[in-house]
Amino acid sequence: MEKVTLADLIEAKRQGRKVVAVSCYDYTTAGYIAQTGVDMILVGDSAAQLILGHDTTLPATMDFMVAITAAVRRGAPNVCLVADMPFLSFHTGVFDAVKNAGRFASECNAQMIKIEATRAYLDIIKAVSDAGMAVMAHIGIRPQSIGKIGRFKAEASTTEMAFELVSLAEQMVKGGASALLLEGVCAEVAQIITERADVPVIGIGSGPACDGQILIAHDILGLTAGPVPKFAKSYANLANASIAAFTEYARQVKAGEYPDDKHCYRMKPGEVERLRKMLI
Ligand code: KIV
Repeated sequence: MEKVTLADLIEAKRQGRKVVAVSCYDYTTAGYIAQTGVDMILVGDSAAQLILGHDTTLPATMDFMVAITAAVRRGAPNVCLVADMPFLSFHTGVFDAVKNAGRFASECNAQMIKIEATRAYLDIIKAVSDAGMAVMAHIGIRPQSIGKIGRFKAEASTTEMAFELVSLAEQMVKGGASALLLEGVCAEVAQIITERADVPVIGIGSGPACDGQILIAHDILGLTAGPVPKFAKSYANLANASIAAFTEYARQVKAGEYPDDKHCYRMKPGEVERLRKMLI
């Protein structure tokens, strides 16, 4: 399979073909995803929650994100790989932003850099884009702003809020964003943004009209412990399957059923007898 590029995503939008994206954090899962026709993997900072067990995305660090993004690239060499700029990786100015985005490009072979952005960060979008990296501007619900917002709810539910968001989306594209990610945006507004944007618009919890959809791998697989957002859809229940497998493993070890002969290495014939004699 040829590597999926931004040009392919733009062509998919032009032809009305949906882009399929998954947020995933590890080599093994990325390898499975790569076999399925999924176009894009985002290594999201939601890893701070699902991998590290934090209650927000804020503790994700650059070093952690670089390590897992590079792992995902090794598992899925041909998907369009999007790296997520974690909290404080770009908020401190354009120098840090370009340097950190550059790490994802040079150390992880990421093709696009996702930035949770407000109007205040337009200069960052422009600087990263001017440095030659494709930027995905993440607007709507922005989990890195949880401290300021308190709790998340659907974005753009009134005309005024929707007008603001449509204009923010357009400013992001004008400022250099090569793609948009809309999180938790009312479906009607996501549709308007998608129709007006000439860049691919990927939605999560933003209705069916977006050019593509993204879900978190853990949600798709039914692995997420605890409540999931309204838009998350599970296509399997690996949580129950995992619990069943660990329970059976524990039972077999306690019962002396594992390891059985099939799962043991054996010495060559006659060797154990020689060893026992040697040890007398
Ligand atoms: O961090 C993440 O996984 C994301 C997706 C939910 C879009 O930002």
